Amino acid sequence: MGFCSDMKIIIAIDGFSSGGKSTFAREIAARLGYIFIDSGAMYRAVTLYALQHGAIRNGILDEDKLVGMLDDIDIVFRFNPARGASDIYVNGEYAEGKIRTIEVSNFVSAVSSVPQVRRKLVAMQQEMGRNRGVVMDGRDIGTVVFPDAELKIFLTADPAVRARRRYQELAAKGMDVSLEEIERNIRERDEADQSRDVSPLRKAEDAVVLDNSYMTLDEQMAWVTDKLCNI
Ligand code: DC
Repeated sequence: MGFCSDMKIIIAIDGFSSGGKSTFAREIAARLGYIFIDSGAMYRAVTLYALQHGAIRNGILDEDKLVGMLDDIDIVFRFNPARGASDIYVNGEYAEGKIRTIEVSNFVSAVSSVPQVRRKLVAMQQEMGRNRGVVMDGRDIGTVVFPDAELKIFLTADPAVRARRRYQELAAKGMDVSLEEIERNIRERDEADQSRDVSPLRKAEDAVVLDNSYMTLDEQMAWVTDKLCNI
């Protein structure tokens, strides 16, 4: 890849749900020899813990209970060479599959709008980027976590295209879900992500926009190579 400098930088990728951020970020990290961090996985991990430990009951999040358990939640990424990416462990338990269920997806917006949750995870994310050489994707990476990131990308794609991608991904893993339910969840999360009070999803002023609705991964990589050479 024609990255025109040896200097290690931070690449922040923000955008809507299921927009291909992780695939794109993982590929950039692999080509540059950087660490890839999926910040959404961390919000999902907290949501999974809340579901498993009674902070979400009968479809309702008990915020005080969740805040009371935050110090007990241990989130660790371990590199998995077979996948070429890091797997997430919650309190020592492998959680990659469990954090991606529709149940977690349905509650993750509520969990991620709790200020104390964001404070804890943002501090962890900043620590992970201390030595730079990181590609991190999420909603507030270019605005809050790394406002000084050298390259900020705001990824967008048509909601119907995103729903189809997510459907294919989950169906390939054998999960029984409907396209309609996924599209509804994506539209609800778009709305929740943009309208929450704390760190809403928005494009950083200095971010470059990429609409990847009809782009292949190779085309996206060519686009980012050009951007990296012009930092
Ligand atoms: O990227 P994802 O769909 O796996 O993220 C799951 C949820 O986590 C998403 O609905 C919003 C939230 N999130 C966030 O609030 N801030 C981030 N930096 C990343 C994700």
